[in-house]
Amino acid sequence: MKTLTVHLPGREYDILIEKGILRQTGVECRRVLPKTTRILLVTDSNVAPLYGKQAEESLTNTGFTVRTFTIPAGEPSKCADQLVNLWNEAMSFGITRTDAIVALGGGVVGDLAGFAAATILRGIPFIQIPTTLLAQVDSSVGGKVAIDLDAGKNLVGAFWQPKLVLMDPDTLNTLPDITFSDGMAEVIKYGCIWDADFFRLLEQCGNRSGVMERIEEVLYTCCAIKAKVVEQDERDTGLRMILNFGHTLGHAYEKAYHYETYTHGQAVSAGMCLVAKLGEQRNLTVPGTEAAIRRLTAAYGLPTHIPCSLEDYRSAVGLDKKGSGDAITVIFLKQLGETLPRKMDKKELLNLL
Ligand code: NAD
Ligand code: GLY
Repeated sequence: MKTLTVHLPGREYDILIEKGILRQTGVECRRVLPKTTRILLVTDSNVAPLYGKQAEESLTNTGFTVRTFTIPAGEPSKCADQLVNLWNEAMSFGITRTDAIVALGGGVVGDLAGFAAATILRGIPFIQIPTTLLAQVDSSVGGKVAIDLDAGKNLVGAFWQPKLVLMDPDTLNTLPDITFSDGMAEVIKYGCIWDADFFRLLEQCGNRSGVMERIEEVLYTCCAIKAKVVEQDERDTGLRMILNFGHTLGHAYEKAYHYETYTHGQAVSAGMCLVAKLGEQRNLTVPGTEAAIRRLTAAYGLPTHIPCSLEDYRSAVGLDKKGSGDAITVIFLKQLGETLPRKMDKKELLNLL
């Protein structure tokens, strides 16, 4: 088993990574929830038939009283209506402040269940069991929880750290290729922003099965990077913005195609390639960086370019909640493994584009 601790004063927690650990769900949850009677297990309609019973039985066998709440799979479930349903389910189940919510699923389940845990009874314990690659390397770590509004994604949320993150890499075997690739964009991002050796390792792995041969190491490396960033900037006021490498332009692609044509990872992939190109054009980025990112993203089935009008860029940059006023911080790369955040005028960025 690989274990990693996220050190946050008074709120530190472990990330446990091991093939088959889903079978130990009850034992591992009991370790961090000694006083808990009831667990509301939140999952989605794809994950429930695959892993729901196993998790529920393991929790029940360790003495928890469990109720499973299943949402329809997909982003539309990360909404206020499902949040209200979840709150009501928790109340009808008799949840108290020492009871807990366990999220079993991808980022949608984790974000929704985490926000419910952050808000119900002014906050109850919460455990993440991420089952997508994206959720294992990104959304389950760091405590950002949220729901979407019609006006945009993740607009209502909180910072609410889990008590434990349990990662079973075996759950990734049932992911469709497109969902696996989606997560690979974030995996590649960590190599770009923090660890050039890790980038090389991903080059060597070459494809999905190569990554799965070294999956525990891959997950550990990504989570260790995210943990280091979150430990220094939990509330996202500085360093944490480097995790948005490729995301501002990625956001433009997702929005331009109404979140239908390209997945988040596909959009981030094209965004990373373009920022690297712009960085090279401005002599900020070591030549050859863009080509290396293009080769690696393409190897994992991700697009290196997405057509987008200036109007779409303008709208995405204007509305980006990470920007302030007329300025925006763009995360460039100095070289693979090293970022170069640059505050620039939004008009200057649009001129570059
Ligand atoms: P998702 O939760 O919708 O999962 C993708 C699909 O895979 C779904 O259809 C799901 O049912 C299915 N699935 C999940 N696990 C499976 C498995 N093991 N086998 C087969 N199918 C499985 O999407 P996601 O990509 O995991 O997460 C995206 C969400 O995460 C977005 O809402 C995004 O905003 C959020 N996010 C949050 C953070 C954060 O820091 N909180 C970071 C990044 C992304
Ligand atoms: N996914 C970006 C963050 O957690 O800050």
